Amino acid sequence: MNHLQFKRHRRLRRTDNMRALVRETHLHKDDLIYPIFVLEQEDMKNEVPSMPGVHQVSLNYLTEEMNELTSLGIRSVIVFGVPSEKDELGSEAYNREGIVQQAIRQIKKEVPELTVIADTCLCQYTDHGHCGIVRDGDIANDESLELITKTAVTQAEAGADIIAPSNMMDGFVAAIRAGLDEAGYSQIPVMSYAVKYASAFYGPFRDAAHSSPQFGDRKAYQMDPANRLEAIREAESDVEEGADFLIVKPALAYLDIMREVKDRFPLPLVAYNVSGEYSMIKAASANGWVNEREIVLEKLTSMKRAGADLIITYFAKDAAKWISE
Ligand code: PBG
Ligand code: ZN
Repeated sequence: MNHLQFKRHRRLRRTDNMRALVRETHLHKDDLIYPIFVLEQEDMKNEVPSMPGVHQVSLNYLTEEMNELTSLGIRSVIVFGVPSEKDELGSEAYNREGIVQQAIRQIKKEVPELTVIADTCLCQYTDHGHCGIVRDGDIANDESLELITKTAVTQAEAGADIIAPSNMMDGFVAAIRAGLDEAGYSQIPVMSYAVKYASAFYGPFRDAAHSSPQFGDRKAYQMDPANRLEAIREAESDVEEGADFLIVKPALAYLDIMREVKDRFPLPLVAYNVSGEYSMIKAASANGWVNEREIVLEKLTSMKRAGADLIITYFAKDAAKWISE
């Protein structure tokens, strides 16, 4: 066989030690961001039916939930509010005593070692469920920016460490950056949902956050899944407007986009491993069709390999446990 010319790639795969030595991608606990849903309604802890293991919690269960995260070694959360009242203008989103503002204040007071990221959008707070204000059946961009900026400033006032706008209006990074600077929060970074597709993978989240649009869909502001160059334009404008982090969302069907954004823009890149991606794995594992632990670690690793530095994931608690083992 010596005369045959071929490469022996298997030399580097022979043992656990050898594989560890040449491993290119690593998943760390510090990469993980856990999403939480905080209910304004009192004294509730509800499991989201389509997301086994994920709960919406009232303020009185919030601290224990946060302590669980820190005990697992998770250091960042992204907070979504589920308000009791909704209206046309999403007023509860920018109420200083709104549910998200209260939740942020409570976490920063009781578990100050956690980095608190505030999701900044109107859709959980509007009665029509859109991410901006509706005018003549359309989502009014510039008028929405004003309310979104007000929301971001109240979140910073409440103590948020990072503002993460997910609304997909044009110019939201510029508007929020200006609003934060003016209010004295020039040190608070913006983690932009720069590249956010109009995706069917958000279904379970909309159950959890009660944020389904009551008419139409989000295709006039979220991106068409068929587009790649548009993702570059979206990321580029957010970088110019002063974004500190870029998010690509969803994750698994968009790893190509993640790689491209990472190669072009030298900012920390965040993968949002969304609700539908979570539910599919949960359902298949509950049926015994896939090995949950192995499939989750493989998928999270693939996001890092595609260029993500950080991952927002409902699997954060399990992943943190598995990483420690
Ligand atoms: C709302 C928002 C959504 C998600 C995060 N923020 C849903 C949407 O745009 O409909 C999705 C998260 C998930 O599916 O896990 N702006
Ligand atoms: Zn929204």
